[in-house]
Amino acid sequence: MNTPCSICPQQTRCVQPHGPKPTKYFAIGEAPGSDEDIHGIPFIGQTGQEWDHTYLPLAGLSRGEIFVTNTRQCRPPQNRKPSAKEIEICGQHHLPQELEEVNPDIVFLMGATACSLVPEIDLEIEHGIPRRGVLFGEEYWLIPMYHPALGLHETSSMI
Ligand code: URA
Repeated sequence: MNTPCSICPQQTRCVQPHGPKPTKYFAIGEAPGSDEDIHGIPFIGQTGQEWDHTYLPLAGLSRGEIFVTNTRQCRPPQNRKPSAKEIEICGQHHLPQELEEVNPDIVFLMGATACSLVPEIDLEIEHGIPRRGVLFGEEYWLIPMYHPALGLHETSSMI
């Protein structure tokens, strides 16, 4: 469901995370797209379909076992990338509490925006490689990965 946000009063479409809690898997994307903005559920548009039906089955996972959230919870104007300030402010506002409630073992950092939450990660070198790392003061298995939308734009990157 979309709810108003206390830190960005101009935004009234704050797409809430979705998925079981507690659970082993916690996935962080970038920010909602237009379908997510309309329906109030993360990763339900074309990228989410690709994730659900292509990438998750390849990993032996299904959407129902993953808690899914975004770095920025509302859709940026003109669908632009969230700024460093927005990532910091919005991420800090909601992610620590979500991580505490979900208590995951494994955190998927999907795309450069989510990876930027852990500054020492170099996505170009580390994509797909699990590593121990600290996120908001707690240690997890982190999996830096390209954003699932990438394969839609650049099929050579799908693999
Ligand atoms: N891309 C994201 O990063 N998040 C969504 O919710 C949808 C697309």
